[in-house]
Amino acid sequence: MSLHIGDTAPDFTTDSTIGELSLHDWAGDSWVFFFSHPADFTPVCTTEMGATARNADEFAKRNVKPLGLSTDTAEEHRAWIADVNSTQGVDLQFPIVDDADMTIARHYDMIHPDESETAAVRSVFIIDPDKKIRLTMTYPMSVGRNFAEILRVIDSLQLADRAGVVTPADWTPGGDVIIPPSVSDEDAKARFPQGFKTVLPYLRTTRVD
Ligand code: BEZ
Repeated sequence: MSLHIGDTAPDFTTDSTIGELSLHDWAGDSWVFFFSHPADFTPVCTTEMGATARNADEFAKRNVKPLGLSTDTAEEHRAWIADVNSTQGVDLQFPIVDDADMTIARHYDMIHPDESETAAVRSVFIIDPDKKIRLTMTYPMSVGRNFAEILRVIDSLQLADRAGVVTPADWTPGGDVIIPPSVSDEDAKARFPQGFKTVLPYLRTTRVD
């Protein structure tokens, strides 16, 4: 099944490194960074788990709960976490779900047969507190993800919700943002009293906190 931005993230209940976990209940009022990786006890995945654990405070600041998945058992995940902690200098606390039977990976379209028939590619689903999928990314097995980019897209999504703006290429927090073309100049004057710059009639930039 292919999932799209705006779809409700399919709920599931499964074993995990913190015991039985149901996605929607566990997420509560938080955002979720749900990500798959090919396998426990593999090198790139070990660094990604380390990066996720290292950024625990950054995720928490944004009200985001990380949730990992591979097509391994919770017992295998728990054994592997010891390696992650000892080699990456972290204390990994976020859960990793058991998907040894590939039910969730298949439902979330994380199995790409040309990469592997049994292991998940590196998928990312950013899920908002209404359980809507707000962003997806798919990386091949050979490429470890960029965690600065993951935090950046979460910042952009949350700013869009808060301030009704969109963000340009290579935006980072504090940079100029864009007023959506659907907002008239008249409404923009009321909504952005700090002013805005009209570069083109459809490209108007401003700054928001
Ligand atoms: C890794 O995490 O290192 C990895 C896993 C599967 C295929 C290639 C790399």
